[in-house]
Amino acid sequence: MKRACVIGWPIEHSRSPIIHGHWLKRYGIDGSYTKVAVDPGDVDRFLCGLAEAGYAGCNVTIPHKEAAYRAATLCDDSAVAVEAANTLWLEDGKLAAANTDTYGFMTNLGVEAPGWETYDRPAAILGAGGAARAIVHGFLQAGVGEVRVFNRTRERAEELASHFGARVRACDWSQREKLSAEAGVLVNTTSLGLKGEGSVGMALDGLGERCVVADIVYVPLETVFLAEARQRGLRTVRGLGMLLHQAVPGFEKWFGVRPEVDGELFAAVSADIPKS
Ligand code: ATR
Repeated sequence: MKRACVIGWPIEHSRSPIIHGHWLKRYGIDGSYTKVAVDPGDVDRFLCGLAEAGYAGCNVTIPHKEAAYRAATLCDDSAVAVEAANTLWLEDGKLAAANTDTYGFMTNLGVEAPGWETYDRPAAILGAGGAARAIVHGFLQAGVGEVRVFNRTRERAEELASHFGARVRACDWSQREKLSAEAGVLVNTTSLGLKGEGSVGMALDGLGERCVVADIVYVPLETVFLAEARQRGLRTVRGLGMLLHQAVPGFEKWFGVRPEVDGELFAAVSADIPKS
């Protein structure tokens, strides 16, 4: 039996076992996917012993993504760009790492808002954490000419901009309404909008009618930010699709089948998430 898991600290909240459990059943694979709580002090030991413990690989969530990147011998482009990994597997006995958040976000954007790339405008990103890095990398790879990053702590936006170079511009959080007015895509990568947190607090009436508005928050399924954009007639992209798509490459590496993200999977995972 092939085994994989997701590690984090804490880990109870993770929906990854629902996703991989759904696919294991659907494709009739003799495999397992479990949650493992790994204390930050134990993460290197756990990753070194992954093969010996019988795992084909694992997903990695907060706060272990940077440690996972450092522990790996082979890293894909996105893990290198983000300096963090969320998916690990063994390749000829060596630990290999990817950051599939880039793939997950960009694939979902393509599915939910086809043609977004034909609207030749800057991308605007709210937030400058690990998720923002993965998404900025995705837009740069997709050929977007300018990415504007708005962050409450301006230095973090500046760090991110200097990491990626001239096509990324650091902007003040207070300028988010004004400087995203000409954006082709606006993405919230902050935790604002998550149940119990505050709201993005941004008027969307300055956005062009072709602007696509995306959120990576998926609890609730439709955030206030997205509901406001939808009410203004804008195309919106919910965060859950990114979570589903980012799981695809790991499942294929561990279990040998490239799984499909479809309505059934969306329903299975969204059943576990409050609607508003
Ligand atoms: P992740 O790696 O998941 O992206 P993170 O590194 O904790 O998470 O980043 C969270 C993002 O949400 C940051 O951009 C953070 O802004 P700061 O860099 O200023 O901390 C943003 N964020 C969190 N709470 C916020 C708030 N109340 N107002 C504005 N931005 C907030």
